[in-house]
Amino acid sequence: MRIPSNRDFTRITPSAFSYHRFKSYVSDCRAVLLPSFGGPHLLELRSNVQVPQLKPHEVLVHTRAVSVNPLDTRMRAGYGRSIFERLLPLILGRDISGEVAAVGASVTSVSVGEQVFGALHPTAVRGTYTDYAILSEDEVTPKPDSLTHVEASAIPFAALTAWRGLKCTARISEGQRILVVGGGGAVGLAAIQLAVAAGCSVVTTCGSQSVERLLAAGAEQAVDYVAEDVELAVKGKFDAVLDTIGVSETERIGINFLKRGGHYMTLQGEAASLADRYGLAIGLPAATALLLNKQLLYRCTRGIEYSWTYMRADSDGLNEIRKLCEAGKMKIPVHTTFPITQVKEAHEAKDKKLIPGKIVLEFD
Ligand SMILES: NC(=O)c1ccc[n+]([C@@H]2O[C@H](COP(=O)([O-])OP(=O)(O)OC[C@H]3O[C@@H](n4cnc5c(N)ncnc54)[C@H](OP(=O)(O)O)[C@@H]3O)[C@@H](O)[C@H]2O)c1
Repeated sequence: MRIPSNRDFTRITPSAFSYHRFKSYVSDCRAVLLPSFGGPHLLELRSNVQVPQLKPHEVLVHTRAVSVNPLDTRMRAGYGRSIFERLLPLILGRDISGEVAAVGASVTSVSVGEQVFGALHPTAVRGTYTDYAILSEDEVTPKPDSLTHVEASAIPFAALTAWRGLKCTARISEGQRILVVGGGGAVGLAAIQLAVAAGCSVVTTCGSQSVERLLAAGAEQAVDYVAEDVELAVKGKFDAVLDTIGVSETERIGINFLKRGGHYMTLQGEAASLADRYGLAIGLPAATALLLNKQLLYRCTRGIEYSWTYMRADSDGLNEIRKLCEAGKMKIPVHTTFPITQVKEAHEAKDKKLIPGKIVLEFD
């Protein structure tokens, strides 16, 4: 990485930057590049990777920690290739926690030197596995002092996914009953904490190793989906079902547990996988047709709203998530950290399911 000098200030386009809020500027830095799709061995930590100039609404974040999401390992293996192949090499990574190094001219909510955390949109090409990541202003928020960078980096992508489903789609409210199918992962845990904080009662299904953790997070019942028959163990109907597993069996069970007017939301939407299989021109219309068919079917036969939930940047959601973190009501445990120099090992550990919880990559 090249250390900024005074001369660098002359490189900045005046229209793009507000000089008085500008502390440092880097033109290149280290980044983990993915030159082609495949295994963890393809990930390359390179120096001298160019840092693009900031647009007025963007924030340059000096990275301290990034978490490894399933989307990172799936993208590395080729998920989304119909969109991303022509954009290779990619920089993976959605979550981030770090320090603001520079801000674009119209940024008002964070300032240089501030500790922030946040997450990029799922389709971002320049991800966060880099010393200096670029996010738009609505994708970052001040980091709670109570969280380390490692802890903070584990939260935003998962919590915003849960937020999107529960708050934006189902619009959950106090007193409702929520079922989280497959609550043992980061999104499931975030969903349980969001719903509990909203005054809902939550039932979840999970592996045996996750039962105690999810009860401690506020679920009133956590059903081990290997040892127990979920359909017998869970009683009553629900206002919303968030399905993190999203196979036909969990969809059937989730739909059957809903009240009329309830929402079924799966995290396994098929838009990207159909586009990968058939190409964008056929795959995307096919995905839309599939989604509309299911929506119509469940609305007409059951009075149920069916949707595919995708993570989306949401500044209001991120601010609410920050407040929950500050209040100690939102936490995603980090199982293992790796230095960014061991990104291949981290991805390999995830691929081989050697580590059951969150992995975070630390930057020096
Ligand atoms: N559509 C979207 O925009 C979107 C966004 C985020 C994620 N997703 C998808 O949603 C799914 C879940 O994502 P995620 O981020 O929640 O994945 P994750 O944290 O890697 O969790 C996946 C599974 O691993 C097990 N697990 C996780 N932490 C554990 C722990 N500490 N101890 C034991 N087991 C643990 C859980 O299984 P058990 O249930 O058996 O305990 C969990 O269901 C993935 O398929 C991902 O691709 C989609």
